[in-house]
Amino acid sequence: MLTLNGVGKRYSTGDRALNNIELTLPNGQVMALIGPSGAGKSTLIRCVNRLVEPSEGNIRLDGMELTSLSGQKLRQARRAMGMIFQEYALVDRLSVMENVLSGRLGYVGFWRSFARRYPQEAVAEAFRLLERVGLAHAMDKRADALSGGQRQRVGIARALLQSPKLLLVDEPTASLDPKTSRQIMRLIRELCAERGLAAIINIHDVALAQQFADRIVGLRAGEIVFDGPPSELTAEMLTTIYGEEEWDTTPEPLASETENVPSSAVTPRQAVNNVPPLAAGGAL
Ligand SMILES: Nc1ncnc2c1ncn2[C@@H]1O[C@H](COP(=O)(O)OP(=O)(O)OP(=O)(O)O)[C@@H](O)[C@H]1O
Ligand SMILES: [Mg+2]
Repeated sequence: MLTLNGVGKRYSTGDRALNNIELTLPNGQVMALIGPSGAGKSTLIRCVNRLVEPSEGNIRLDGMELTSLSGQKLRQARRAMGMIFQEYALVDRLSVMENVLSGRLGYVGFWRSFARRYPQEAVAEAFRLLERVGLAHAMDKRADALSGGQRQRVGIARALLQSPKLLLVDEPTASLDPKTSRQIMRLIRELCAERGLAAIINIHDVALAQQFADRIVGLRAGEIVFDGPPSELTAEMLTTIYGEEEWDTTPEPLASETENVPSSAVTPRQAVNNVPPLAAGGAL
């Protein structure tokens, strides 16, 4: 279980990115973190793995206080947290298999350890993970020969190789097409269920968040303004999270685009995001 108590962050520039965050994430729960640009979503994720130092508050993972760790202990704790980034952060000139294996190394010591051979059991596990994410056939390809969706799958396999308890995922679908975005979210969701993993997923696409998360937390200006199941995320609540102005400027969708979308909890933007490509009935 992950708990954040009174977590705040003020950057040295004076920007207050997080304010008194109280959050408990039970084991196995998939949480989507939504909110406008600058709300503090990435800062929150980075405070958890200490890529950013919180200015105040405590963060605990299964009772272990993360905020006071340093050196070797911090590296060990980070291995319990798999990071998946928008930009995939793969090493382009290395093979898919080598990129996945780099997940064994945690965040540091990569180049130092790379010259050594990996234990056979790590290679076998990396292969199993590549099979699971549908990329076993591409294990010898260079990472820069893959599509965006394939690269994200490698990123997911790499994060899982360190057997984390928690996945921290920052905009996994931001540069992917709608269909690939869904596939990636479904894969993350299924892997969390298979392995009993908790996840925090920062995501701009509200419809995807509603479809694939157990719980949605809405951040606005560094504060939690919504915390509940996807079904409770109403249009009014989205206005609270994202602000009126943004919704006012959203163009009305075409009538055909709102088909299959429950009207009670949907905003125009959400409806636009929710349209499957060439939806059944060929409405487009
Ligand atoms: N390294 C930094 N130094 C100074 N200020 C920062 C830094 N990183 C983020 N901020 C500020 O902190 C606030 C929150 O930023 P953050 O990146 O966490 O938002 P976000 O919700 O992830 O936004 P986006 O959706 O655009 O990714 C913003 O005001 C931002 O300008
Ligand atoms: Mg961000």
